[in-house]
Amino acid sequence: MNTIEWTPAGLCLLDQRVLPAEEVYRTYTTYEAVAEAIRSMVVRGAPAIGVAAAFGIALGVQSSVAAGENLPAAFERICQTLAATRPTAVNLFWAIDRMRRKFEQAVADRLAGDELAQALVAEAQAIQAEDVAVCRQIGRHGAALVPDGATVLTHCNAGALATAGYGTALGVIRAAVEAGKQVAVYADETRPFLQGARLTAWELMRDGIPVTLICDNMAGHFMKLGRISCVVVGADRIAANGDTANKIGTYMVAALAHRHRLPFYVAAPISTFDLTLETGAGIPIEDRAAQEVTHIGSHCIAPPNVAVANPAFDVTPHELITAIITERGVAYPPFTATLRQLVANA
Ligand code: MRU
Repeated sequence: MNTIEWTPAGLCLLDQRVLPAEEVYRTYTTYEAVAEAIRSMVVRGAPAIGVAAAFGIALGVQSSVAAGENLPAAFERICQTLAATRPTAVNLFWAIDRMRRKFEQAVADRLAGDELAQALVAEAQAIQAEDVAVCRQIGRHGAALVPDGATVLTHCNAGALATAGYGTALGVIRAAVEAGKQVAVYADETRPFLQGARLTAWELMRDGIPVTLICDNMAGHFMKLGRISCVVVGADRIAANGDTANKIGTYMVAALAHRHRLPFYVAAPISTFDLTLETGAGIPIEDRAAQEVTHIGSHCIAPPNVAVANPAFDVTPHELITAIITERGVAYPPFTATLRQLVANA
């Protein structure tokens, strides 16, 4: 399955809003359309958002070159449009910064026109390819933590769909299975956007990995019954002290895991670290439309005009996290020291 593909016709995205009922691929030819695809969750998941934004920038530069626009001004406008799509996943801003460095380098090297546009396409392709390699490394490091015969609880979708391929949390599960371990998964449905029910269950079933779908409010019950061995989730932004923003409901799962003395692992690339923030208190939390809560698909399940809150993410405090699995190895507490060490090990 190709979540994101650069084609001669433009950027092709698998529409994650309609999975698993329909497998629809849409092609985007402007940076504004890519921005809208990110905002409306055609493509979602922190690393995938970063990759899509990088290609969006490449598309924007291609058309600015064709239109003979002032490139530095156009470049800033393109970056600002893409940066304004979703605030929480830091991978978006990481990818934009990387594309900006490439643009500045290309200009300094006196590249212009099609050559400059092509340099930006190549950089977006490099970000995409590196993300798959990074996910595989996360998987290798994380697989060692998953015992043979384990049942892993996961929340949201941190799989191939949420990355350029293979996944972070699901990458750990895939790598454990590839290492010959028997692993089963409990997938939280993940209200309100249902990434667990619609995407994680679909992805794992396609790979033949045993998955049981549960409602979000069933996790504590199954932990108490001893059916869960550990929890593995992805991340959207990790502060310097290890506080981790991930899909709304992750904090609840972490608190339950702590209550039941179960390991709670976060699997994420270094590009998800935001060491400029000392703690998770500074992480911006996206608020999304009330309709995601009041409706399932087009069906309304709530009284008209009810007040609704819909934060898309929460922050799990570092003291509830057993370890953070990255492409450079596994970080254990105290995260303030170990996360910086991983970054320094470049
Ligand atoms: O709102 P979403 O679907 O973009 O949220 C996705 C998550 O919270 C994922 O767990 C996170 O981005 C990690 S994806 C490897």
